[in-house]
Amino acid sequence: MSAAEVSRVVIPAAGLGTRFLPATKSVPKELLPIVDVPTIQYIVEEAVRAGIKDVIVVNGRGKVAIEDHFDIAFELETVLRERGKKELYDQLHAISDMTRVVSLRQKQPLGLGHAVLCAASVVGPNPFGVILGDDLIDAEVPAIQQLIDAYRKHGKGVVALMEVPPEEAPLYGIAAGRALDDRTIAISQLVEKPKPGTAPSSLAIIGRYVLPPSIFDVLREVPPGVGGEIQLTDGLAVLARTEGLIGYRFEGRRFDAGDRMGYLRANIHYALKRPELREPLLAYMRTLTNGGGERR
Ligand code: G1P
Repeated sequence: MSAAEVSRVVIPAAGLGTRFLPATKSVPKELLPIVDVPTIQYIVEEAVRAGIKDVIVVNGRGKVAIEDHFDIAFELETVLRERGKKELYDQLHAISDMTRVVSLRQKQPLGLGHAVLCAASVVGPNPFGVILGDDLIDAEVPAIQQLIDAYRKHGKGVVALMEVPPEEAPLYGIAAGRALDDRTIAISQLVEKPKPGTAPSSLAIIGRYVLPPSIFDVLREVPPGVGGEIQLTDGLAVLARTEGLIGYRFEGRRFDAGDRMGYLRANIHYALKRPELREPLLAYMRTLTNGGGERR
């Protein structure tokens, strides 16, 4: 892969969000808030902090609200200005200024690999990032930046990895390979959602990737895999054999916001980082752990 800049990321956002019904009946799961910020805004902010210029959101039916979130909300902004709510106005306006968001449709739910392939013509001929909206990573250096740095160093596609307990391996793509340093492996094996007890390692793929554009040709050919879907992991396994692929154990705290418990943890984590919420939330949690129930 050439040392071209990574200036675009793809965010697949076409999933139905069935794990969060009924909330997701009419609200895209990407807009469910962590405290008061939609999950997809955390993802876009991570990309922006890593110097990404274009964000390509691959969405499906009923997801136009995602586009609206990153657009100028003219009426709302006018009202806020008229009412002298400058801080809120600035905060809101900054969201539309953050980056260019291009939206396109995945017309059929054929899998993550297919969603990424839908973005091929918009991504163009350069390496690009992929960020999955369910995986929130709180890190000093944005996780996608860590992967971009690894890509620059190795000149090959990079996937983010994290140790998981063996019983959780069937939920993930699992990677195995030869250690290059403390954080990096040269991947030789990749399995999407291995059957219990068959995972080749305990290193799970977490939703951050920097990929060469050659992945698109691979994804056009890859047959449906687990769940009858075109799996990104299966495409990456081909890439690992042909061009080589790097696995990078990122630094940072990851939350699976696509899981109810992970979503609650993320809410608590990000709320505790907010000065105005930290003390009252801790005080409330103390009342719970003291066994006293809620007192007001
Ligand atoms: C997807 C990928 C999987 C990866 C996971 C990370 O699975 O297919 O390889 O480990 O994201 O969150 P999903 O969670 O969409 O089933």
